[in-house]
Amino acid sequence: MTTQPFLYVVVCAAGIADDAHKLITAAQDKGWGVGVVATPQGLSFLDTEAIEAQTGYPIRSAWRSPGDPRPLPPADAIAVAPATFNTINKWTAGIADTLALGILCEAYGMGIPTAVLPYVNTAMAAHPAYGRSLDQLRGMGVLIGSYEPHWPKTGGGADRFCWEEALELLEDKIADSPRR
Ligand SMILES: Cc1cc2nc3c(=O)[nH]c(=O)nc-3n(C[C@H](O)[C@H](O)[C@H](O)COP(=O)(O)O)c2cc1C
Repeated sequence: MTTQPFLYVVVCAAGIADDAHKLITAAQDKGWGVGVVATPQGLSFLDTEAIEAQTGYPIRSAWRSPGDPRPLPPADAIAVAPATFNTINKWTAGIADTLALGILCEAYGMGIPTAVLPYVNTAMAAHPAYGRSLDQLRGMGVLIGSYEPHWPKTGGGADRFCWEEALELLEDKIADSPRR
């Protein structure tokens, strides 16, 4: 493929979302064009102006109106980072009540390589739905990050959350993707 590959970074409302620029920079350094899709809750965690200046595209969060142009090029790959407990469980349940979830639910059927970097605490991770969701995502071919949940109310584990892991996980998939 001669054109620049395009990555969607789906940002959910987790405590470290304001560091999403780290993944954008890493992806751009590897030659990706990047567009951000934030959940409605996740949007308030982001510096919209800074992200839009960095990517050159508007952050998408709401559904566009029928007839409106598509603000982003089609995705060659998707990185969900950070991924919340809420969005992970809704995604696997097939709920598409946010634009981010609609894109993720559709990505499976379209065969778009997708990586997810969950950022949840141990209390959330202990809920039976969470383990079931991760198992289901693995079965769907979604690549899952290695972050181990942090203890609740401790300020999280931003220091050991590896944003670049999303790109590492996607690298092999991208090379094999029939979309490229
Ligand atoms: C300051 C703050 C930090 C949060 N951090 C997390 C988090 O790290 N992981 C998580 O799963 N939920 C976290 N939440 C809860 C989510 O924001 C909440 O479940 C929300 O509904 C998720 O929406 P979304 O999945 O559509 O982005 C946090 C909430 C607040 C207010």
